[in-house]
Amino acid sequence: MNEPAENLREEILDRIGHCVSDTELEQLRVEYLGRKGKLTGLLRGLKEAPPEKRPRLGEELNQLRRFVEGRIEERLKILKEDKGGKALSEERTDITLPGSRWERGRIHPLSLTMDEIIDVFLGMGFEIARGPDIEDDYHNFEALNMPQDHPAREMQDTFFVSDNRLLRTHTSPVQIRVMERRKPPLRVIAPGTVYRHDELDVTHSPMFHQVEGFMVDRAISFSHLRGVLTHFLRQIFTQDIGVRFRPSFFPFTEPSAEVDIQCLVCGGKGLSQGAKSCRVCGGSGWLEILGAGMIDPEVFRFVGYDPEKVSGFAFGMGVERIAMLKFGIEDIRLFFQNDLRFLRQFP
Ligand code: FA5
Repeated sequence: MNEPAENLREEILDRIGHCVSDTELEQLRVEYLGRKGKLTGLLRGLKEAPPEKRPRLGEELNQLRRFVEGRIEERLKILKEDKGGKALSEERTDITLPGSRWERGRIHPLSLTMDEIIDVFLGMGFEIARGPDIEDDYHNFEALNMPQDHPAREMQDTFFVSDNRLLRTHTSPVQIRVMERRKPPLRVIAPGTVYRHDELDVTHSPMFHQVEGFMVDRAISFSHLRGVLTHFLRQIFTQDIGVRFRPSFFPFTEPSAEVDIQCLVCGGKGLSQGAKSCRVCGGSGWLEILGAGMIDPEVFRFVGYDPEKVSGFAFGMGVERIAMLKFGIEDIRLFFQNDLRFLRQFP
């Protein structure tokens, strides 16, 4: 390569190496390869060269042109890649910053209570059954010995979906559904959601949860019911808590009872801190948590069991009421308001 071309080559290579942006490279391309560029000038000057040297010189300059174009392309590529690298290095993680916390969800107090209730009964050999939230009249009322117009239907103010369909008012229809399908011996619990057109207040909600339980076999007596419930209550409330069985009435059990627990919110005194009546037990010192009794022979007839041969007990408890007593919660509405300040207090 002749000297001016050789010098130009060195000069261009040095300049390319110092370009740090595509704009600079473009300027450089114009400066050497543009219409008035230095290399273009050399090519134009070829006509001044002796004719015998022109082809070789021309070939060398064209080679140099291609070489320079190639180097500019290469440099452009490197700069592009480096752009990514630069962006990455600018965005790199500062490992000295404190980490961002992952908020861990918590289990809702009702689920905690429900799980605990289920565990105690599983420990006593009960199995779990489920039934539909939307029930028919037959399973929710009729087969539980509450025919049309029976006054006991009033006790459970009902949300109707259609003439014959309703939101179940209790979990007792699951008793019927299980007994229709199976024969004794049975030891079953049925946890679930229930709905009643009840006024919302401190201890009542229109949507709440129950756990139904029943046992059917030969010669089951009220003392079995009492034993099972007493064991359950001791497991759930670890303290030596006051429990009382009150005579009551349900059309599907005979005899029937309601079970009250000493109010743990006021310690059974019936008074709140300001010496007013306790909001949870209304000053009585007791809170009703479940209804129970011996399954009525009429119910057995509905499911095709012979009441002369089998007997059984059943109970249905309010999960919210148990959770209120367990955790000292003064208002049932707190369970459904989803206030994180409340929910965060549970493990
Ligand atoms: C029943 O629902 C019967 N099915 C229970 C039963 C089952 C009796 C098997 C005999 C044999 P009761 O309406 O009393 O019974 O409701 C049972 C429990 O649900 C109550 O003791 C109470 O703890 C809870 N409960 C009732 N209504 C509400 C309400 N609106 N909000 C929250 N808890 C309620």
